[in-house]
Amino acid sequence: MSDLAGGKRVEVIYSAEDISSRLDELAREIAAKGIERPLVIAILKGSFVFAADLIRAMYRHGLAPEIDFLTLSSYRRGQQSSGQVTILRDLDLDVRNRNVVVIDDILESGRTLAFAKDLLSARGAATIYTCVLLEKKGARAVNVEADFCAFECPPLFVVGYGMDVSHRYRELPFVGHVAQR
Ligand code: IMP
Ligand code: MG
Repeated sequence: MSDLAGGKRVEVIYSAEDISSRLDELAREIAAKGIERPLVIAILKGSFVFAADLIRAMYRHGLAPEIDFLTLSSYRRGQQSSGQVTILRDLDLDVRNRNVVVIDDILESGRTLAFAKDLLSARGAATIYTCVLLEKKGARAVNVEADFCAFECPPLFVVGYGMDVSHRYRELPFVGHVAQR
């Protein structure tokens, strides 16, 4: 348990140390694929902390990725997703003939990742790998899996390490669950 400003208590699920050592392994797995001129695409906002740490872990494993950002919205109200994904802010770079690594925070229904893969494929990306921090098993509404995944996520609404509930808790250095009182 961790006590936050404002009196909320958060149960730590994956600590900063857990995340840091797992990201090192994940970067090694990605490096082992021998991806030529990798272009990392971080899906915002939820993956910005994960992406920032992962690209530096990739550097330590000899990779020199370019990076771009794609802001998607799944019309999430509170903790429920409506299913429709839209582009809030598009990429700057051209993905045609590029080897792309898409990074997202959580794979749940799969709609966000499937949308991103379809978009990049329609724009002519040569290869598309997907990498997520967390995967919620048994929550898929569409058939999509991640090529790389750091951790399994319990069936809870999680926050921290870039992830929010109503724009809060992104700053927490760990992945946690807000305890109900
Ligand atoms: P999907 O499109 O249903 O796979 O949902 C993926 C997106 O929903 C993620 O990129 C997250 O932004 C958000 N999401 C799903 N579960 C959680 C959660 O437990 N906490 C915070 N965000 C979540
Ligand atoms: Mg997200």
